[in-house]
Amino acid sequence: MAVESYRLTTEGRTKIYVPAVSITSPLPPTSPAFFNPRGRKVRDLAVLACRAYTKLYGEADFGDPLAGVGAKSLRVLVESEGIAHAYINDLNSKAIKLARRSAAANLVLNRASFTVKSANQFLELHARPGRRFSIIDLDPFGSPTEFVDSAIRALQYGGMLSLTATDTAPLSGVYRKVAFRKYFGYSLRTDFSRELGLRLLCAMVVRRGIALDMFPRPVFVHSDQHYMRAYFFLETGAEAANRAIDELNFIIECNRCGAVTVHKEPTGSCEECGSSVRYCGPAWTGPIFDRKFVRQMGEEARGNHLSRYEKLLIKAAEEIDHPPFYYNIPRIADRLDAPAPSPTSVIESLVKQGWHATLTIIDPQGVRTDAPLSAVISLIRKE
Ligand SMILES: C[S@@+](CC[C@H](N)C(=O)[O-])C[C@H]1O[C@@H](n2cnc3c(N)ncnc32)[C@H](O)[C@@H]1O
Ligand SMILES: [Zn+2]
Repeated sequence: MAVESYRLTTEGRTKIYVPAVSITSPLPPTSPAFFNPRGRKVRDLAVLACRAYTKLYGEADFGDPLAGVGAKSLRVLVESEGIAHAYINDLNSKAIKLARRSAAANLVLNRASFTVKSANQFLELHARPGRRFSIIDLDPFGSPTEFVDSAIRALQYGGMLSLTATDTAPLSGVYRKVAFRKYFGYSLRTDFSRELGLRLLCAMVVRRGIALDMFPRPVFVHSDQHYMRAYFFLETGAEAANRAIDELNFIIECNRCGAVTVHKEPTGSCEECGSSVRYCGPAWTGPIFDRKFVRQMGEEARGNHLSRYEKLLIKAAEEIDHPPFYYNIPRIADRLDAPAPSPTSVIESLVKQGWHATLTIIDPQGVRTDAPLSAVISLIRKE
């Protein structure tokens, strides 16, 4: 690669060689190698997750089958003390060349290995005792589904799997059939589609796992307009896998009054008003945050260059005991033709009435609560 075609950039505390064009162009190209400067938040949170995981469970290695220029691997090697070694793989040899150069610039060359293989082939080579990873991150273009099976088989018991899906349109209910093909469940276009998409993504990973008598338990999720992302801890045994089935359900929304319920079957009519319903699923309806892990992530952010995430993580730890959906206040207010109160003021009023209610990191306009929609509506009307 010509010298002028790449740049040394710094992200967090890590130096990364990237194609110059990926910094200057609005849409980073895949050639000569892929690097997205806007992926920084994902990588920041991956650093915090690795720090939390290794603080709680000890030293770990990091498998990166779709590494691009190795940005995430390099970040965790440099910024997360507990990561002993990173295995950096990509099908694009130019990307791997840059990753090696960056490893040298960060003085971590002795803690990194580099390969140019297809991701599934790379994972297959690690799917045996003594070679399995403690952490694997899947970061493909589009859906991660085709790599999940081999990732689970290449992960140690108790290991952590993280993955990104950038096919947010199928997951958010725009292409329901595509969602069914890629995620084995129907998505739904509604006020809280983003949460439903995250729960479909989790369900796909759980279903891949339980087929292998394992249970990849969701421990953290986050998303924005362009991606959905989830983290899992791998539990093993048929018993854990059977328990997971109880949390694969349909999330059902009334076509008329908007009431939301969770059921094993996608049939029936609205429990509140008797009207017809629509559904999403089977989706993961169990917890999507692990309190201990998410709190530790928050602690890892305190007092350093990643401190801007501390609040977000503390908020996520509060959502754990609440239902698997939220109410988007401005959208409900819009349908009522009423001004929208702030989500915080709705929460205050609900809590005064004895309900549980909290903000959600999935949607800044969302209120997660065990109160029925009717209670939320009467609050909005009152305001
Ligand atoms: C979204 S990028 C990875 C970005 C990177 N993880 C980061 O944080 O900057 C996806 C990468 O997957 C690679 N890729 C696509 N299909 C692959 C396959 N089947 N096996 C291995 N790598 C593949 C591409 O070359 C590209 O570098
Ligand atoms: Zn209804």
